[in-house]
Amino acid sequence: MRIIAVKDYDEMSRKAAALIAAQVLVKPNSVLGLATGSGPVGTYALLAEMHKTEGLDFSEVSTVNLDEYYGLEKTSPQSYYYFMQEKLFNNINIKPENTHIPDGTNLDRKAECARYDRVIRSLGGIDLQLLGIGHNGHIAFNEPSDHFEPNTHCVTLTQQTIEANKRFFDSIDQVPKQAYSMGIGSILQARKILMVVSGEEKADALCKMVAGPVHPGLPASVLQLHGDVTVIADEGALTLLRQQAPHLIG
Ligand code: F6R
Repeated sequence: MRIIAVKDYDEMSRKAAALIAAQVLVKPNSVLGLATGSGPVGTYALLAEMHKTEGLDFSEVSTVNLDEYYGLEKTSPQSYYYFMQEKLFNNINIKPENTHIPDGTNLDRKAECARYDRVIRSLGGIDLQLLGIGHNGHIAFNEPSDHFEPNTHCVTLTQQTIEANKRFFDSIDQVPKQAYSMGIGSILQARKILMVVSGEEKADALCKMVAGPVHPGLPASVLQLHGDVTVIADEGALTLLRQQAPHLIG
């Protein structure tokens, strides 16, 4: 695992956007795994800028998102579908039919999970998966558990995740209690993984992910088993790792 230390959120976003742009330049028909949340917003803005000013071409790119709230309409501003249109897809030349997000409006959990796994398989796997990390060490919505879930599944969100995500809703009662999430197995099958981590509130999760045991109680720790993971973390996020295992920071 390579840990790239950066000063702040802006530098993190610049480096992440540069790595994603390089992936698209080298392989124009890349399959990008995408995340939502605060972490990648700056990265997406820079990719949109590179498309506008330098002609970075997404016309052959396919995307597959990590997760979506169960039961939210696509038109809901809190849905991840809406987020992706607004933050990235509307601002680049990607073909809508090449973008994939779990369908939160499909209330048949079994059918939707099976459909999404078929989508991931039909794309031939993910070339570069972008990830954030939750305060509790979740990746996608794989919450702390006693086992790693391999495939797409419908998750009951922990209270901590509901608390963390209430900032996007008018009130905590409006945060959906469940979400569809890509499984850990699919994430680990991505050829490359790129994680962005910013802020001191992520320091504990980041430190455990990198220096703790591989355990489903801290789902992101499973990334220690992947051969090509790059983590771009800012100084806030690195505070604990700098104290406890500075040799792991590259
Ligand atoms: C979102 C996702 C989540 C977030 C994580 C961090 O698609 O998969 O795992 O990456 O909750 O979210 P932020 O970046 O908002 O702190």
